[in-house]
Amino acid sequence: MFVASPVKTNFHGVGLVRSPAFPVLSRRRHHRVPLSGQVRAVISREEKAVDQEGEKSVNRSLVTSSSPAFPWQRSKYMGSKTVVAVVKIRKKMREKLTERFEHQLELLMKAIGQGMLIQLVSEEIDPESGSGRRSLETPVLGLPKARNDPRYLEFTANFTVPTDFGKPGAILVTNLLSTEICLSEIIIHDDNDTILFPGNTWIHSRNDNPQARILFRSQPCLPSKTPAGIKELREKDLLSVRGTGKGERKPHERIFDYDVYNDLGDPRIKDRVRPVLGNPDMPYPRRCRSGRPLISRDPPCESRGKEKEEFYVPRDEVFDEIKRDTFTAGRFKALFHNLVPSIAAALSNLDIPFTCFSDIDRLYKCDIVLRPTEPKNTGLGGFFGGFVDGILNVGETLLKYDTPAVIKWDRFAWLRDNEFGRQALAGVNPVNIELLKELPIRSKLDPAIYGSPESALTEEIIAREVQHYGMTIEQAFEEKRLFLLDYHDMLLPFVEKINSLKEDPRKTYASRTVFLYSKTGALRPLAIELSLPPTSENENKFVYAHGHDATTHWMWKLAKAHVCSNDAGVHQLVNHWLRTHAAMEPYIIATNRQLSTMHPVYKLLHPHMRYTLEINARARKSLINGGGIIESCFTPGKYAMELSSAAYKSMWRFDMEGLPADLVRRGMAEEDSSAECGVKLVIEDYPYASDGLLIWKAIKDLVESYVKHFYSEPKSITSDFELQAWWDEIKNKGHYDKKDEPWWPKLNTTQDLSDILTNMIWIASGQHAAINFGQYPFGGYVPNRPTLLRKLIPHEDDPDYEMFMRNPQYSFLSSLPTQLQATKVMAVQETLSTHSPDEEYLIDLREVQRRWFQDEEVVKYFNKFSEELEEIEKKINQRNKDKKLKNRTGAGMPPYELLLPTSPHGVTGRGIPNSISI
Ligand SMILES: [Fe+2]
Repeated sequence: MFVASPVKTNFHGVGLVRSPAFPVLSRRRHHRVPLSGQVRAVISREEKAVDQEGEKSVNRSLVTSSSPAFPWQRSKYMGSKTVVAVVKIRKKMREKLTERFEHQLELLMKAIGQGMLIQLVSEEIDPESGSGRRSLETPVLGLPKARNDPRYLEFTANFTVPTDFGKPGAILVTNLLSTEICLSEIIIHDDNDTILFPGNTWIHSRNDNPQARILFRSQPCLPSKTPAGIKELREKDLLSVRGTGKGERKPHERIFDYDVYNDLGDPRIKDRVRPVLGNPDMPYPRRCRSGRPLISRDPPCESRGKEKEEFYVPRDEVFDEIKRDTFTAGRFKALFHNLVPSIAAALSNLDIPFTCFSDIDRLYKCDIVLRPTEPKNTGLGGFFGGFVDGILNVGETLLKYDTPAVIKWDRFAWLRDNEFGRQALAGVNPVNIELLKELPIRSKLDPAIYGSPESALTEEIIAREVQHYGMTIEQAFEEKRLFLLDYHDMLLPFVEKINSLKEDPRKTYASRTVFLYSKTGALRPLAIELSLPPTSENENKFVYAHGHDATTHWMWKLAKAHVCSNDAGVHQLVNHWLRTHAAMEPYIIATNRQLSTMHPVYKLLHPHMRYTLEINARARKSLINGGGIIESCFTPGKYAMELSSAAYKSMWRFDMEGLPADLVRRGMAEEDSSAECGVKLVIEDYPYASDGLLIWKAIKDLVESYVKHFYSEPKSITSDFELQAWWDEIKNKGHYDKKDEPWWPKLNTTQDLSDILTNMIWIASGQHAAINFGQYPFGGYVPNRPTLLRKLIPHEDDPDYEMFMRNPQYSFLSSLPTQLQATKVMAVQETLSTHSPDEEYLIDLREVQRRWFQDEEVVKYFNKFSEELEEIEKKINQRNKDKKLKNRTGAGMPPYELLLPTSPHGVTGRGIPNSISI
């Protein structure tokens, strides 16, 4: 009979009590250690009889048994068969000394004891228990088989099950070792059938959690089609990852839950108080809950833990060792633990402005010698290819930067208006430019606080500037040639606070820039308005235009620099962090909590969720936190995340995050049912949009085929309770502060689901790549894209004006970040632009997904997708050679490569990973 009480197992001399998660037999079991690598699990006296006497004797003994001891004893007249399990384990690349010692002991134990138990669960119901039939728990023992790939170990275990056991649909895995095991996969050979149970998962030690892990076979399966024998396990597995919403999460756990952003500051330290994000005043997407103790109750703020302790991330979301090494022993560690303090220490007496452009150029030519007191061995030297070619050699206490793409072929391109306009279409932040539909431009801010809503960029000013290009303002409007980069409403509520910051002081305006798309195909800035909050005494809106005299020329340069610093802040905090990293986190949490790993939508999304929770946790720890690098290096300073929250409140909406919808919203495209993606670009030579639409279309086609394949029956979407719970949770928990918005798409049809999934995959892949990997190529040259400015533009009655008139170059350079600030921000941008050596790219999706699918039809979809991306790569390369496309080609101009699908590792300014991994 099945044993209902807890099973005690002695292991390492310690009595472990295990709750009866699954029925097992006790006392009767013993194990036979094989001579070869293969393990024959002799599981009972009865089975031994099968071995020795064959079927007849088994049947005889079964017939006489009134109360069957084994599930298959009910199959009185059935025989037995052997099922072989091949268990593939991934080795740790590096073990701590203590772990190595423990492993030696455990290897010894494994030869005489147990390392891992596995149990097969049939898809068939056992009529007596009402659950799936189960084999006995079988130890995985013996010496591993050698494999070609030294990173893996392979073990084999044999099961004896009755011939009518049915197809194994799940495997229960118990890790008896004291340390976790990375289970790569289990393959079951059953008669002529080969069944894959994909793992790529960390199996916790039973010491940490007595529950066995449940693995399901690779075949995707909607909830309604779950084989009866594993239905219960499907629910149980989902319950196990949801947790209870209580307690502090431990590193071995794989619990996904929601929380607000209440761990960015420290209310106990005056300068580190930061508001909680995720409430009606400051709405924000939810993050993954870590449950650290609260350090204040009003508002409830979570402790940030110890300096070097990492924030909790569910175990399988943690970086693999290659990635981890890249960042913990390499760049990230350098950046967050060594480099920034080293830079600060080395340059503290040089926290001065750049005095001439050659000061900046020196950063790419010469090593910065960090202080000799800096520890020599930081583990950075020669870490990986791109790294060697890269910027750092802290092992030798040297710091050097690569020349960024923007000045590689033309040192002066950044000075030109054409390049300023081009970067609004093909730079690192090509998602704020919009069609100007009418004048005057109006603010939506409260006039009682922010003054007249009308912009100072009047029709008269714009008409005058347009005339220089041989056209009238009416013509320009009619031909849709006027465009706008408008940061007024986003920035103005913060300008006064930012300009009053005492620590790392900086000065800013809220900017608006009007552009003309000229007949020669260049986007030319016509006029810039820089606004300060209104005061009774002073003018607060300043207008600049490109002039022909020396003074106006320099003023214009300064005005453009202020626009760039607005742009850099909005790019980092809104378009990059909020709209890709932070918005994606709730999708990942909901996918893990509500969709079984068997669910086809889980399988589709899985590659697009890789590493995102960990990179986001690391960002909360070191980048976007109070006093973190983003605050110290970007214009909004300590108000950075408040600005991000305000943008979430005013402009983020799920249905507008897809590329075509976003382009239409900004007036950069018009709906056109005859066009491939249903939209026609207003500026055809808009590299981000035209390349992005190719990627978008490929994703959309893949998703639509995939969704139709799995949801072929009517009402299959509405009746999929896992899917409905998933979407419900994204809206009502993950984006709780936006839950009542009317724009959330419905999820009733296959088209609804395809649109939602296309949107998510685009954000994780193409959108993030376009916004992320150009950070160093464009921002690595500080004058091109200063992330903050330290001075307002001088006016005739300002004390600085005279100095400006005498030495405008110095005035410009002294407004830029100091040498120390610039060096820090370059290190940040360089790190964030890096592809890790283990990056997985969208173009290789077929390889990644092949593991999951044995269904030929689905494999075909992924093959077609990868082939399409290969074609897209060729097409983009051709576009980059087309001389008519002036935003891609021209003397000294870098081609637009941010949406090229492939890339080697390192800082390349190209390549689309599957997920937000940096
Ligand atoms: Fe990123």
